[in-house]
Amino acid sequence: MELLEEKIRTEGCVKGQGILKVDSFLNHQLDVALFEKMGKAFAKRFAGEGVNKILTIESSGIAIATSTARYFDYCPVVFGKKVVSLNLDNEIYSSDVYSYTKQQAYKIMVSKKYINKNDRILIIDDFLANGKAVDALINVINQAGATLVGVGIAIEKGFQEGGALLRQQGIALESLAIVDEMSVEKGIVFRDQSEKK
Ligand code: G4P
Ligand code: NA
Ligand code: NA
Repeated sequence: MELLEEKIRTEGCVKGQGILKVDSFLNHQLDVALFEKMGKAFAKRFAGEGVNKILTIESSGIAIATSTARYFDYCPVVFGKKVVSLNLDNEIYSSDVYSYTKQQAYKIMVSKKYINKNDRILIIDDFLANGKAVDALINVINQAGATLVGVGIAIEKGFQEGGALLRQQGIALESLAIVDEMSVEKGIVFRDQSEKK
């Protein structure tokens, strides 16, 4: 998605250890007009698949997920919670996530009320790095016996393994921008996806 790549090029900030800071439009201040266009792009890529629910993970995934849900017929957004609510034990699906960025494990939780076996689910998230967060969401979908339609990501870091691992499994993964390289010498190098326009 050209507009997103342009935004990353002009406002993105490359940090050490392969981290791309995009706080000005994606992770802290939110560019709502851009989100609407991203949502529309995801809806186009997953049209005709009977998506009836979007699953994401708090917090940065939520806004992109809601912008996307607008473009499907009745389609609520459910997000995996990272904070434990003690009274939910038997009524939740839970899955472990190991965060490479934070070097620590945490759990995500989704109430059994909000995902069921008839759901056709699109996963949406802001970043794809090693793919552990997406793996945990897929695990929840499998526990519920629901169907995974595909995964939509705003920014995939192509130099980490998450994207390749999902595609190897035959999962329909659509990333609006794929950063294959980030360095002082070459700047930010995007994978050519011009065929998807
Ligand atoms: P993984 O899920 O792909 O394995 O990635 P990892 O655990 O390493 O990512 C931890 C958090 O950092 C996630 O957000 C993820 O979206 C985000 N992240 C990963 N790489 C980058 C990056 O290069 N730039 C930015 N801006 N974020 C990155 P989170 O902890 O779930 O937090 P939230 O922002 O959704 O609240
Ligand atoms: Na995220
Ligand atoms: Na994030």
